[in-house]
Amino acid sequence: MKTFFNVQDLGPLQAALKEAEEVKANRFAYQQLGKNKTLLMIFFNNSLRTRLSTQKAAMNLGMNVIVLDVNAGAWKLETERGVIMDGDKSEHLLEAIPVMGCYCDIIAVRSFAGLSDRDYDYAETIVGQFVKYSGRPVVAMETATVHPLQAFADLITIHEKWTELNANPSNQPSHKRPKVVLTWAPHCRALPQAVPNSFAQWMNAADVDFVITQPEGYELDPKFVGDARVEYDQHKALEDADFVYAKNWSCPGVKNKGNYGKILSKDASWTIDSEHMSWTNYGYFMHCLPVRRGLIVTDDVIESPHSLVIPEAANREISAEVVLKRVLETL
Ligand code: CP
Repeated sequence: MKTFFNVQDLGPLQAALKEAEEVKANRFAYQQLGKNKTLLMIFFNNSLRTRLSTQKAAMNLGMNVIVLDVNAGAWKLETERGVIMDGDKSEHLLEAIPVMGCYCDIIAVRSFAGLSDRDYDYAETIVGQFVKYSGRPVVAMETATVHPLQAFADLITIHEKWTELNANPSNQPSHKRPKVVLTWAPHCRALPQAVPNSFAQWMNAADVDFVITQPEGYELDPKFVGDARVEYDQHKALEDADFVYAKNWSCPGVKNKGNYGKILSKDASWTIDSEHMSWTNYGYFMHCLPVRRGLIVTDDVIESPHSLVIPEAANREISAEVVLKRVLETL
């Protein structure tokens, strides 16, 4: 595996889930694989989970890790070509990237959407340059449009919980396949679409009954929606759900490009509370974190025994380890 951006990069999902199970059972089994290999983690944006879990995964594999926060101690980087660099940016990304490539074997990059230019963001302009000029395999730690390490961890979490529920005869779920609902929820700031995009892409590839619900205007890009059922009535969408994945995203600009990155609604009736969860099939609440309580979800729902937010975060170590292991195997 030379790049990790999309679900297709991982190959068959059943094999990946089996590998995740093996890695979780013995996370230090592949220490020799990463010996004397270096992972460079580059952050253009803040992180808690991605930073810690990816570094931990690399250490599990015996790798050396270098972390660079571009906005804290590195030269400010120019990302556009053809500009006269007489401002505060001292170095161009096109020199910085191949230099970074000299010091490592794998590069992992976090670079969020700017949310001002849809074409620029959806062309993955920044991480595309890492792929083109670093000479190294590139792993996405959330880009302008995707967050695959999160989506893989979410899939592992759903798979584990569904397997556990099916293993208990007194607790037999009523569905053959889990019903998974991705629901928009309100937020005070404009957020990127990377998490819902990847979640949709991965759920479409998984063996689940997948529904997306959002207010009018928040339609995700069709390449991520795929064959998912889209339901604008949140109540109807949540009925009988086994897993409720809440997330805010700003307008993806699908129906009106001029609205790209804007907040179109702050409708508090979309906040997931105990009444919303009562419409489900004793469903489990999921969110990638960080989450703003009172906007996305109420305290009682996120603190309930049916909240999976901590197992999801824990599985970030496992998703990252499987991905880095697969990349190391191709070096
Ligand atoms: N879920 C997630 O990516 O968390 P961080 O932004 O803290 O890395």
